[in-house]
Amino acid sequence: MAQPESHVTIHMAASLDGFIARKDGRVDWLDTSDEFAGGDTMDPGFVEAFLEMIDCYVMGSRTYETALHFESQGLGWSYGEKPTFVLTSRGLPRIRDTVEFYSGDLKQLVNGRLRPAYRTIWFVGGGMVSAECLRLGLADDIRYSILPILIGEGIPFFEGLDRDIALHLAEAKAYKSGIVELRYELRGHRSSVGSDSGTLP
Ligand SMILES: NC(=O)c1ccc[n+]([C@@H]2O[C@H](COP(=O)([O-])OP(=O)(O)OC[C@H]3O[C@@H](n4cnc5c(N)ncnc54)[C@H](OP(=O)(O)O)[C@@H]3O)[C@@H](O)[C@H]2O)c1
Repeated sequence: MAQPESHVTIHMAASLDGFIARKDGRVDWLDTSDEFAGGDTMDPGFVEAFLEMIDCYVMGSRTYETALHFESQGLGWSYGEKPTFVLTSRGLPRIRDTVEFYSGDLKQLVNGRLRPAYRTIWFVGGGMVSAECLRLGLADDIRYSILPILIGEGIPFFEGLDRDIALHLAEAKAYKSGIVELRYELRGHRSSVGSDSGTLP
């Protein structure tokens, strides 16, 4: 049975025109160089404490492949020692003990396995998996970091949604980097009360 306090968040960074990667998967545009004088500064200590609160990550195989590519270039692994569930039907390389592959019913994974075991569950992309998470009604909130750039075309944040999904804006914060972080709760959802865990660019 799901823990009442378990919380599923979808978090991604996207261009202002709503893309999470170029069509070929590149995310080079994530390095922007804007400056917004009225924005907040990111406190590394806060970010570290914030990330510590995440209990596990879920991602699609293409996002995992991007993470593998980053790591092979010496750019590190963004998910620390936290359990990381990778959705795939393929035999991908398992690069660390914290990675677990899963194939099949996403609802079963989240409600049957993750919610009973973890309090704070983060979906970190990509667009296909985020949309599936929403279609199945599994997410409690969405954290959307908007970067100060337009890229014209690419992989959309939510690929192929089949209906409107009403949201409630719960937090909004602008940073000196020009990034705007929004947190929306899913309206009429089981956890529409929301967390007060802060924002993260
Ligand atoms: N800007 C950001 O914050 C951000 C965040 C994350 C990702 N990205 C980028 O987004 C791109 C990837 O997004 P995407 O939408 O193309 O792909 P994705 O969501 O990362 O992965 C989709 C793939 O996951 C596998 N999958 C999904 N559900 C499954 C299930 N229930 N059971 C088994 N396998 C399942 C399938 O692949 P197989 O079964 O064939 O393996 C599917 O093609 C990458 O370029 C990445 O760098 C950007």
